[in-house]
Amino acid sequence: MSKEVVVSGIRSTGYLHLGNYFGAIQNYVKMQDEHNCYFFVADYHSLTTHPDPKDLRQNVYRVVAENVASGLDPEKVALYAQSDIPEIPELYLMLNMLAYKGELEKVPTFKDKVRLQPENVNAGLLTYPVLMAADILIHRAVKVPVGKDQEQHLEMARNFANRFNTRYGADFFPEPQVYRSNQDTVKILSLDGNGKMSKSENVNATIYLSDEDDVIRKKIMKAKTDAGPTEPNAEMPDYIRNLFVLMQVSSAPEVTAKFTADYNNCNIRYGDMKKQLAEDMANFVRPIRERAAELQQDHAAIQRILKDGAEKARASSAATIAEARKMIGINYY
Ligand code: ADP
Ligand code: TRP
Repeated sequence: MSKEVVVSGIRSTGYLHLGNYFGAIQNYVKMQDEHNCYFFVADYHSLTTHPDPKDLRQNVYRVVAENVASGLDPEKVALYAQSDIPEIPELYLMLNMLAYKGELEKVPTFKDKVRLQPENVNAGLLTYPVLMAADILIHRAVKVPVGKDQEQHLEMARNFANRFNTRYGADFFPEPQVYRSNQDTVKILSLDGNGKMSKSENVNATIYLSDEDDVIRKKIMKAKTDAGPTEPNAEMPDYIRNLFVLMQVSSAPEVTAKFTADYNNCNIRYGDMKKQLAEDMANFVRPIRERAAELQQDHAAIQRILKDGAEKARASSAATIAEARKMIGINYY
C-alpha cells in the first residue's frame, strides 16, 4: 500500500520556539517513517509582513537547521523552500479564482493582522489561506500536522479542494485533515499567560530552541503563577496547566506525577516546580540548540538539503499541475 501524503510548513519569520516544536515539529518527526512527508519553509508566506531582504536567507536556514536538529531526517522526508516550487504559485493562482473576497475577509488571522498592521493590509495577507491550500493540495496531502491556530486555514483548504473537485472533476483533491498526536500541546501558551508562544510576540515569555540554559531558567522562573489552589483537585487555570504540559513533555513521569499530586492536595510550591522544570527544559533544549547552531553554519549542508528536497517536491507538484491544467481546459497543443 502506498504511504499517506503529509504536508506542513513553518514560516521563516524568526526563531523557532516550544510551540513550534511541540505543536508541529515533534509530529513531523513521528510521522517521517510511516508517511510520505513534505515539510517546507513557508518563505513566500513570510513576505506578507515585508521582511528585510538581508534577513531572509538566515531565517530560512534557521528553520531548516532547527528542524533537522529536532530529529527530522532529510533523507526520509522532502525538506524544501516553498519558493523553490513554481507549481505552488501556479496552483495558488488557479485556486484564487475559487476563493471569495467575503470569506477571506472573515478569517480571524486576517482580522488580527488588519488590527496589528493597518498600514500594510496587502492582498497577500487576504489570500494567505489560498496559498496555504496550494501548499497542501499540490501534493494531494491527506494529513497536515499543525497547531490549533491553523484549524480555520485547514477548513478553508478543504473548501477550496471541494470547489475545485465540483467544478472540474470529482475526487481529484482529497480533503486534508489536521493531524495531532498530543491534544495537550496543540497550543503552548506564553509564560506570562497572554496568548500563545510565538516567533515575534511575547519574546520574554516564549522559550526559543536557541535559548541558552540561563535564559531558559530566567524565563521559567518568571512564569506567571498564583497563590495555589485552595480546594483539593481544583481545576487548573490556563497558565498553570501550561506549566504542567511543559513538564509532562520534558520531565520524568514521576516528577510530573509528584507535582500533580501536590497540586491536587493543595500543597504545591510553584518555586520548586519551576526550578525543576527549568532544569529539565534546559536539558531538553540544549542538544537541539547546539546541533542547530552547528548546522546553521554549514551552508553547503543546508543548501544540499534544500536542493534535494526541492527535487522531490517538484516531482510530485509537476504531476498535480499537469493534471489540474488539463482538467481546467488549459490543454492547447
Ligand atoms: P509562529 O506563529 O510562531 O510564527 P508559524 O506560524 O510559522 O509560527 O507556525 C508553525 C507551526 O507551529 C504551525 O503548525 C503552528 O500551528 C505551530 N505553532 C505555532 N505556535 C504554536 C503554539 N504556541 N503552540 C502550538 N503550536 C504552535
Ligand atoms: N500558515 C502556517 C502557519 O502560520 C504555515 C503554513 C503555510 C502551513 N503553508 C502551510 C502549515 C501548509 C501547514 C500546511 O503556521
